[in-house]
Amino acid sequence: MSTAWLVTGSSRGIGLELVRQIAADASNVVFATCRNPSSATKLKTVSEEAKGKVHIVQLDASDVASIKAAAATVTKTLGSQGLNYVINNAAGQSSTDVPSTLEVDSFLADMKLNVAGPAIVAQNLMPLLERAAAAGGRKPVVCNMSSGMGSIAMDLGARMVSYSITKSSINMLTYKQAKESPNVIWIAQDPGWVKTDMGGPGAQLEVDFSASSILKVLTTVTEKDSGSFRRYNGDVIPY
Ligand SMILES: NC(=O)c1ccc[n+]([C@@H]2O[C@H](COP(=O)([O-])OP(=O)(O)OC[C@H]3O[C@@H](n4cnc5c(N)ncnc54)[C@H](OP(=O)(O)O)[C@@H]3O)[C@@H](O)[C@H]2O)c1
Repeated sequence: MSTAWLVTGSSRGIGLELVRQIAADASNVVFATCRNPSSATKLKTVSEEAKGKVHIVQLDASDVASIKAAAATVTKTLGSQGLNYVINNAAGQSSTDVPSTLEVDSFLADMKLNVAGPAIVAQNLMPLLERAAAAGGRKPVVCNMSSGMGSIAMDLGARMVSYSITKSSINMLTYKQAKESPNVIWIAQDPGWVKTDMGGPGAQLEVDFSASSILKVLTTVTEKDSGSFRRYNGDVIPY
């Protein structure tokens, strides 16, 4: 039986590279979700090259109906199989605000996409994760993509307050999910500062290095790591 993965926000950036690398392993099948499949040209190319191992599914992480429809499609496609890995990668950063310039609408939009979105994705995929857990072997893993910006202990200053709050919040979500659902390993993952549209060209890490590092972490974490916040190299980051 193949190992089943789902990645959100896979039209570009880290999500696209994760799908490319996951699909390169013959034992994997991957549900590559994105909000606009018709314009996801790079993802379509990856899917064509993977010859049936990449299923492109529409999923807007800010839209509960879209998440539910995607979960139904994945459930139907998997048949009796469960999901082994879910990577909540989709996120946005609508502002580079500081506390004195924070605006309600953009803050709430980021909270909806970056925190409520991953929570609702996990809720709707839980039956498939439980099915994978019941099949025995390695526990299923959910990765919530976080950021060093979400760490208070790292003391990164006043900038990007809305985005940073969303990432602190996803760390807390991950901790709560680990406490509520011990059949799954829940990880808050910092991908590093990566050369993508979000990270910009001056970032430290190439996207292929970040993605391969993340996959190494996710495929080696164990039950005792559930609820933790990890750097791309697997080190624990203080909350
Ligand atoms: N790059 C970095 O340095 C860095 C550092 C720390 C953490 N991160 C985190 O790593 C993850 C990936 O970041 P990235 O650098 O690859 O970002 P990116 O290049 O900006 O790509 C963001 C992805 O999220 C998707 N997305 C945006 N809104 C969405 C929605 N409503 N529903 C579904 N998908 C949506 C985008 O799809 P569209 O193409 O449709 O817009 C795109 O595929 C994010 O969680 C980010 O916060 C990145």
